[in-house]
Amino acid sequence: MNETIKTILSRRSTRDFSDKPISAADLDLLIQAALHAPTAMNKQTFQFTVLTQRKNIEELANAIGKALGREGYDMYRPVALIIPSNDRDSLYGRDDNACALQNIFLAAHSLGIGSVWINQLHGICDRPEIRKLLNRYGIPENHVVYGMAALGYSQSGEYKEIERVGKVNII
Ligand SMILES: Cc1cc2nc3c(=O)[nH]c(=O)nc-3n(C[C@H](O)[C@H](O)[C@H](O)COP(=O)(O)O)c2cc1C
Repeated sequence: MNETIKTILSRRSTRDFSDKPISAADLDLLIQAALHAPTAMNKQTFQFTVLTQRKNIEELANAIGKALGREGYDMYRPVALIIPSNDRDSLYGRDDNACALQNIFLAAHSLGIGSVWINQLHGICDRPEIRKLLNRYGIPENHVVYGMAALGYSQSGEYKEIERVGKVNII
């Protein structure tokens, strides 16, 4: 089995991040992986915003928790958060961002970095208290966020085994 297939088959979501930081060089590789994702009609209307300061990540998690009535929500305390955003009018923006996220997850896993999709901004990013933060992070007003990549090193290195039950139909 080649390394790419091994990486795809062994990636698992991480939800027990340690405080060990991710190097700037590795974060740059993750962004390169995101930028190289396929996009419908090669539009590339996405932007990738990277938060690495604990106070920004906590501030966003707190605001999400408040908005959703989930006190103490912390996004699993990642050391880095990549926020892909896209033009709200982009017909396939959500698909493009999902491809970019998967590239990030696979690239992260290949580097020994754990990751998990965080979905909680989806649908609430135009609430004033959330938009205020997104503005501060430099996310354009006409952009929406569908999913985010929480990143860091796993404390335990242990992952839940997930049975793959999606149907396959070869004819
Ligand atoms: C669209 C989407 C939304 C998700 N949202 C969350 C989320 O908000 N929080 C979370 O912990 N995991 C989230 N996940 C991760 C899934 O729970 C996870 O991929 C699934 O349980 C399979 O586990 P694996 O990633 O370890 O293979 C999401 C995954 C996808 C594709």
